[in-house]
Amino acid sequence: MERSRFQEKGRFITLEGGEGVGKTTNMAWVCDWLSARGIEVVRTREPGGTPRAEAIRELLLDPTSDEPLDDDAELLLVFAARAQHLAQVIRPALARGAWVVCDRFTDATFAYQGGGRGLPVERIATLENFVQGELRPDLTLLLDMPLAAARQRLAARGSAPDRFEREREAFFTRVRKAYLAQAAAAPERIAVIDAAGALDEVQARLAQRLSTLLETPS
Ligand SMILES: Nc1ncnc2c1ncn2[C@@H]1O[C@H](COP(=O)(O)OP(=O)(O)OP(=O)(O)O)[C@@H](O)[C@H]1O
Ligand SMILES: [Mg+2]
Repeated sequence: MERSRFQEKGRFITLEGGEGVGKTTNMAWVCDWLSARGIEVVRTREPGGTPRAEAIRELLLDPTSDEPLDDDAELLLVFAARAQHLAQVIRPALARGAWVVCDRFTDATFAYQGGGRGLPVERIATLENFVQGELRPDLTLLLDMPLAAARQRLAARGSAPDRFEREREAFFTRVRKAYLAQAAAAPERIAVIDAAGALDEVQARLAQRLSTLLETPS
């Protein structure tokens, strides 16, 4: 694969999906797949991706505080972290022709704060336009699988649950439904990837979608 064809403009790829579907596990693989094809890759995550944005992440995920976090405050913190991340990392990388691969982005806000918390979609869309302007991912890989199997993976991973992972099953059912509705509304951007089954099967599905993106001129 020739590098020169892709030098002018970086692409923006996001990985999405509920808890434990394999986003972080597959991030490294996606980045390696692109690097092996001569592409400069910036690997990052949300909320976070810069020191200040990671500090906001701590505020969002910390399950120990007795003070409840207001839903609107949560939404604004997510977008505050995103503004910082875009300014410091994502926009500069794309401008110099690097590809950015991000573990969660604004689709997660529509799914969690919209679907999960029930905040109005228009409010989120207003903030999306304010913070991002016209910037949207070129490709979103939505890893999807039944909740029960993803929960089993999380139990096996054994890390302490964060503030979102402590939510009840109905919350995650709404999150998954919102993600799938977003994919149905934007099928040209969001690829639903069956995340159940062995890792090599999931990665074969990811490779197929990435190959299509590589073949598409920017
Ligand atoms: N296809 C797979 N088959 C079996 N186990 C898997 C598979 N993909 C990931 N796992 C395991 O499942 C656990 C959860 O994966 P991972 O942490 O990548 O999920 P995640 O989507 O990033 O979760 P979170 O939403 O909590 O960030 C990890 O222990 C990982 O090793
Ligand atoms: Mg993860």
